[in-house]
Amino acid sequence: MPQEWDSTAAKNFVTMADIVIPDRRLQFEIIADLVPFEPDEEFVFIDIGCGEGLLTKAVLDRFPNAIAHASDAAAEMTTKAATLLAPYADRAKLSQRNIHDSDYLSSIVTGQVGFITSSLAVHHCDDAEKKALYKSAFDKLSSPGAFIIIDAIRPASKRSVELNKKYWRRSIRQQSIELTGNEEQYHQYKQIPATFYDTPAQEDKPATLLDNLRFLIEAGFQGVDCFWHKCGFAIFGGYKGSRHIAVLKEEQRP
Ligand SMILES: C[S@@+](CC[C@H](N)C(=O)[O-])C[C@H]1O[C@@H](n2cnc3c(N)ncnc32)[C@H](O)[C@@H]1O
Repeated sequence: MPQEWDSTAAKNFVTMADIVIPDRRLQFEIIADLVPFEPDEEFVFIDIGCGEGLLTKAVLDRFPNAIAHASDAAAEMTTKAATLLAPYADRAKLSQRNIHDSDYLSSIVTGQVGFITSSLAVHHCDDAEKKALYKSAFDKLSSPGAFIIIDAIRPASKRSVELNKKYWRRSIRQQSIELTGNEEQYHQYKQIPATFYDTPAQEDKPATLLDNLRFLIEAGFQGVDCFWHKCGFAIFGGYKGSRHIAVLKEEQRP
């Protein structure tokens, strides 16, 4: 159990995530869109910092022959994930592991995997750890394979911070109204964007989008891209020898 993420923090996140995180369910759909396999193909995937298992579930639902290894450091979260993923029986395997361990990915499952994903967990690593994680992800992947994650992004300028705060707050308000019919949850959570940027928690160490993309390229990934971005949250990653990703040459780019 990492010191920085206690059980209260984990439980609070589950309650507020659909209101606070912009387009959370859409993010999971986009991750499934980016998997480099056909819907009926067999492959193994890892969900880093799986929490209650919602992203794992979204990928398992889209790929009925896939096998998931969902891992989290918090026992509370793997217990929750075990309940959510119980209907998938042998297709969903759970483990309690710490992302800061140097053998993190290999300790989750031996051998190579086809897909590695994560939602909002990798920013708990500092930049040196991110670099090492992206390299070990590249080594862990079969070919074809892909490493595609959702994460918080560190803005590169004050202008960008202000824009993120403004539109993140707006998203919280919209989602509060859409999901609950009123603004009560908005008023409860509207300070989160300012807090996140002005007084960041010790455990939050997001890198800029450009640094993340650079770490991925340095790790050896191809087709490295940001596939979606909204007020400081991004889906980004890269592919390894993927038959589905023909990287466009300069002259082919639309
Ligand atoms: C913001 S939550 C996201 C959970 C889940 N991926 C989701 O999107 O619903 C971050 C998750 O990272 C996990 N986490 C935090 N520090 C970790 C660490 N050192 N190793 C592994 N997981 C960690 C937490 O327990 C938590 O479940």
